[in-house]
Amino acid sequence: MDEILIKGGKRLCGEVRISGAKNSALPILASTILGSGECVITNVPRVVDVLTMGKLLGILGAKVSHEANRAVIQTGMIECTEAPYDLVKTMRASVLVLGPLLARWGEAKVSLPGGCAIGSRPVNLHLAGLAKLGADISIDHGYITAKATRLRGGRIYCDTPTVTGTENLMMAASLAEGTTVLENAAKEPEILDLADFLIKRGARIHGAGTDVITVEGVRELHGGDHEVIPDRIEAGTYLAAAAITRGDVTVTHCRPGHLEAVLMKMREAGAEIQEEKDTVRLTMPNGLRGTDVRTLPFPGFPTDMQAQMAALMSLAEGTSVVTETVFESRFMHVEELRRMGAHIRVEGNRLVVTGCKKLTGAPVMASDLRASAGLIVAGLAAEGATQVQRVYHLDRGYERIEEKLGALGASIQRQPAGAVH
Ligand code: UD1
Repeated sequence: MDEILIKGGKRLCGEVRISGAKNSALPILASTILGSGECVITNVPRVVDVLTMGKLLGILGAKVSHEANRAVIQTGMIECTEAPYDLVKTMRASVLVLGPLLARWGEAKVSLPGGCAIGSRPVNLHLAGLAKLGADISIDHGYITAKATRLRGGRIYCDTPTVTGTENLMMAASLAEGTTVLENAAKEPEILDLADFLIKRGARIHGAGTDVITVEGVRELHGGDHEVIPDRIEAGTYLAAAAITRGDVTVTHCRPGHLEAVLMKMREAGAEIQEEKDTVRLTMPNGLRGTDVRTLPFPGFPTDMQAQMAALMSLAEGTSVVTETVFESRFMHVEELRRMGAHIRVEGNRLVVTGCKKLTGAPVMASDLRASAGLIVAGLAAEGATQVQRVYHLDRGYERIEEKLGALGASIQRQPAGAVH
């Protein structure tokens, strides 16, 4: 198994190009099931989760070719409607095929995702919504089975805004008979991106990106082309890396408008930020200042940036409170950051971070995708060597991370775990 070795203390400088958003590419790829024509998707990040989705579509019978950042998918001949446990357990977002399979083929069997490192992540809202659209749903032997001759539109209220839940329901409603109104829908940019793609293929969707989405069902969707939006979390992660090393980094090919909450907090933390149409430049004229952060659904501060921000705050002047409101126990990175010398106390769903003068490199274990990113950010500023183990978590969502950070001047390399230097 590989690990990433970082020798910290290098100031990051230069430009880094942001890849397509993993969290957009996944539902967009899943949505190809809804139609029979060819779909050509560009700016697709080559990360493990996206490859897993390609594999899943292949198992279902789609023809998938994925070269560089372009994927071509034909879903004319679905052969099976089952997403097996072996794939779903490696990627919860596999549940995104549930809505499309059910809507187009009248049935779907999808392994129930299990627990995960960031707390309980139920899919009850996905299922309740599909039931409202007339699906007959049962759970047996660890699988969700959903059936419906044809879904019919309905009014759905989500108790909590759920990103993949909103996507699943929006996709299912696209082929339902009649109109569906989704209330308290999630508003993440990735939902709007998916809606844009569905609309290009003949879907009738209004209000995506707001908390009320209306979908008028149509009989079928055709193929279409689409360019995936830039990954706002990847962009935020490189900005955090720039800030913690007091660097001068410009992230390019991004959408600053998707990063408002993150940029505001970085400014509060002492960063100077220049936004252009599709670039953001961050410099640190002075030291890092502590700032409080509260994760919230979009447009609030993203939970997927919480670990990186906690790492940043651990070197900031003063005390910062980081409150996690989206996932119940997304603090697995804290023990590892402490091993690097961070002063962090967990109080319920809050981290009280008391800034310290320096972090020191250590072997640390990644527990989930964004926790790994937090450890990388910390390692870049720590004195000496940090070995981030279980890099496969990182590979699920970051494209060529060591290459990109290396080009900015970081001393970083991938190596077999336990290599001696
Ligand atoms: C998506 C993102 C993930 C991000 C998260 C929150 C993808 C592939 N993943 O995950 O990177 O961290 O949004 O921005 O896009 N909930 C329920 N019942 C449900 C569904 C969700 O109670 O049926 C709860 C969850 O436990 C959580 C909250 O709703 O507390 C938000 O979760 P949700 O938006 O569904 O996260 P994901 O879509 O899984």
